[in-house]
Amino acid sequence: MKLLVIGAGGREHALAWRLAQSPRIQTVYVAPGNGGTGGASQLQNVDLRDTADLIEFARREKIAFTVVGPEAPLATGIVDAFRTAGLRIFGPTREAAQLESSKDYAKAFMQRHGIPTAAYETFTDPAAAKAYILGRGAPIVVKADGLAAGKGVVVATTLDEATTAVDHMLGDGSLGAAGARVVVEDFLEGEEASFIVMCDGHHVLALATSQDHKRLRDGDQGPNTGGMGAYSPAPIVTPALHNRIMREVILPTTQGMARDGIPYTGFLYAGLMIGPGADASRSLRVLEYNCRLGDPEAQPIMMRIKNDLTAVFEHALSGTLDQASIDWDRRTALGVVLAARGYPEAPSRGTPITRLAPDTEARMTFHAGTERRDGTLVTSGGRVLCVTVLADSIRRAQQAAYDAVSETVFEGRQFRGDIGWRALPAAKP
Ligand code: AMP
Ligand code: GLY
Repeated sequence: MKLLVIGAGGREHALAWRLAQSPRIQTVYVAPGNGGTGGASQLQNVDLRDTADLIEFARREKIAFTVVGPEAPLATGIVDAFRTAGLRIFGPTREAAQLESSKDYAKAFMQRHGIPTAAYETFTDPAAAKAYILGRGAPIVVKADGLAAGKGVVVATTLDEATTAVDHMLGDGSLGAAGARVVVEDFLEGEEASFIVMCDGHHVLALATSQDHKRLRDGDQGPNTGGMGAYSPAPIVTPALHNRIMREVILPTTQGMARDGIPYTGFLYAGLMIGPGADASRSLRVLEYNCRLGDPEAQPIMMRIKNDLTAVFEHALSGTLDQASIDWDRRTALGVVLAARGYPEAPSRGTPITRLAPDTEARMTFHAGTERRDGTLVTSGGRVLCVTVLADSIRRAQQAAYDAVSETVFEGRQFRGDIGWRALPAAKP
């Protein structure tokens, strides 16, 4: 069978790599892919980005089904277009993808369906937004309504910072249409976790839990990034909390979408803020929805899948996800992102990658911002690689991951030295 994965990041490399383990696979094509997703017999890049071209390719190559990695094509309706063409594709429709592509849509949806989230208001007028901010006090969070590639959220510790963010988003048009409206919401305290499920419109299959590290530097300092590393499972999500998340967040979301006449298909990612306390009483709130797998969460999650992932997707595409299951490796998976010099503001490109840690059963280097130029592997984006390992404990996983990092060399590489710190026994109160 031939499959198509759309995207170019580490998430797509991990997804395509795992799908390609299936004995049923002839080729997994990745469009447009990166320096790690092409060149092998079972993994090949196709240099296509346009939806019409991708549809033609899927028809011509008799692609069994397509999986969409990033949010941008989902938000513009690639799933609708493939379905109209009679092609099987896993992802949400354009309407359903609004859970990610419009923060205002997501917040109103959560309010309407009783899904716990921070109190908020939406504004188009800067003066009204500022008056609301002054009334609520700091810290407070200002979010651009639309997709802004990670640049749309300001967690303001002072009123000044919050009102400046409003001026920036609503005033100077620098975020384009994404900044035409802002959501202002209460600051939430706690620990974040990523809870990702697969949906077929009726049923839900939960993936293993994970935790990302959004800030550039150790100790959660420095600017926000797309994610500097992740691990799975996230021990904060105990079985009891898992049940609460399904009951209080995930099922109300999929049932709410169905009730609104927009059945949700695809990956659904709830970014959660988990407050302090005992499992039965700690607060559980949705920070955001994403309509896709997380990146870099997907890399450790894919490392832990032991059974044939193509069969799981086939159930998801046939509306029989209730009959599917995933056999999870009991080990901890941990991935450390190596970013380019200058990331996140101005990553340098074209730097040769001089050394890679060899892949093994328990160690994979997933590529993101890499490409091959005249036979040489060079950097081509901000997050370059994600070195991902499996080990028996979080501590061993850290050791193995940082051993692999030391074997991975390109000039100016940046990485965090503390991925997984919250899961270490010493980090617990
Ligand atoms: P988002 O792009 O919505 O995931 O937001 C980026 C990051 O901002 C999140 O991962 C959180 O760390 C932080 N954040 C977003 N909303 C809030 C909130 N209401 N309270 C505290 N932190 C937040
Ligand atoms: N790692 C967070 C995200 O994919 O949005």
